[in-house]
Amino acid sequence: MISSKISGGLNGHPKIPGDKSISHRSVIIPSISNGICEVNNFLNSDDVIHTINAFKSMGVKIEFQGNKMIIFGQGMNSLQKPKNEIYLGNSGTSARLLAGLLSWQKFNSILTGDSSLSSRPMERISDPLIKMKADIRTNNGTMPMAIYGRELEKNSFDILIPSAQIKSGIILAALNTRGITKIIEHNITRDHTEIMLEAFGANIDIENKNSKKIVNIHGKKELTSRNIDVPCDLSSSAFFIVAALINEKSNITLKKINNNPTRNGIIKALLKMNANLNIVNERTLNNENICDIEVNYSELHGCELDSNIAKLMIDEYPILSIAAAFANSPSVFRGLGELRVKESDRLNLIMTNLKNCGVDCKVIDDDLYINPSQRYQIKNNVIQTNFDHRIAMAFTVMGTKVGPLNIDNSDSINTSFPTFIDQFNNIGGNIS
Ligand code: S3P
Repeated sequence: MISSKISGGLNGHPKIPGDKSISHRSVIIPSISNGICEVNNFLNSDDVIHTINAFKSMGVKIEFQGNKMIIFGQGMNSLQKPKNEIYLGNSGTSARLLAGLLSWQKFNSILTGDSSLSSRPMERISDPLIKMKADIRTNNGTMPMAIYGRELEKNSFDILIPSAQIKSGIILAALNTRGITKIIEHNITRDHTEIMLEAFGANIDIENKNSKKIVNIHGKKELTSRNIDVPCDLSSSAFFIVAALINEKSNITLKKINNNPTRNGIIKALLKMNANLNIVNERTLNNENICDIEVNYSELHGCELDSNIAKLMIDEYPILSIAAAFANSPSVFRGLGELRVKESDRLNLIMTNLKNCGVDCKVIDDDLYINPSQRYQIKNNVIQTNFDHRIAMAFTVMGTKVGPLNIDNSDSINTSFPTFIDQFNNIGGNIS
């Protein structure tokens, strides 16, 4: 795919799809609840389709009516043994969350994934589950994971890795475990699982203590379904926000965007960089904060971000790095070690691809330094993505300023944003 320069700016109202994290949870939680759940605005992308297919293969009736997904939940113990291995494609969220849920089923199952997912660390979820007496066997710490379902035992966890997937996998394991499972989260991460479970009647207490969060899950309580309207994805919005900020004459508005405080570090970071962003119409939707975002072309400044903000915007560093490449002063983003174990080694791919675009940047330990210039001399116009959707979209935005760039494996964009190219071109973009 080639992306090339745009001259008249980006203008209009791009339609951002439903939030990926909330869409996964909108399949998983209603599938083990009692009653019918209508899900509006769910993300119809490869990752979420893998979660949907997983639950269909375990006997859950899931139908589609126009843009709605309808899930007919039959309660906590209703899942049935799948006939085959459960293939989860590229989706780390599906893998970590399903590992927790499958640990206490009355059947055995095997989770598999594509080559990228098969190289990502799974002990981070299997180890805590094994502490709850789960029987999970990984392939030297990676997929495939064989899960021998059995009754689990409550336990107490200090989660030191900043990961909502680990937290959510443990919470889903605790739902059908006798007694109270305690999680102390040392780095507060996205809380969509807790928000949705509370709405579905789970017995879950949450306490915030200093910079830590304590989640107590009282297991063996049935959940009751309710309808869900999924907010639009802030992580997907970020590609449009940055594209508008760095392209002159741009003015766009994004509507119904997830503005959960455990997710919106990118807004704080861009405001710190002098972005002309207006957050308007702040409101809630199914207990999630949402807003509309107005974005205008801006003279961005560089900034220094410490590791505390990283967990509030971990998926946004590829596109934030593009913003930093067009600022008028250097940036340093600290504490990005987790980027090495995402859909690709993102820290390395951000640096390599920026360098190929002529940007002066370096990684020291887990910190990324970007030293922007007024003009870039492309060294290699083939962007290596390693099938990582966020690298592909971030460098498509880079192409609007320095293009044309050739993004390899751009099909990966279907992982989270199948309509990305159409929406981009609808507002004045030039991607073929
Ligand atoms: C997600 C959590 C994050 C994030 C991923 C989605 C989730 O992963 O990067 O895209 O839905 O819980 P980690 O838990 O590995 O940080």
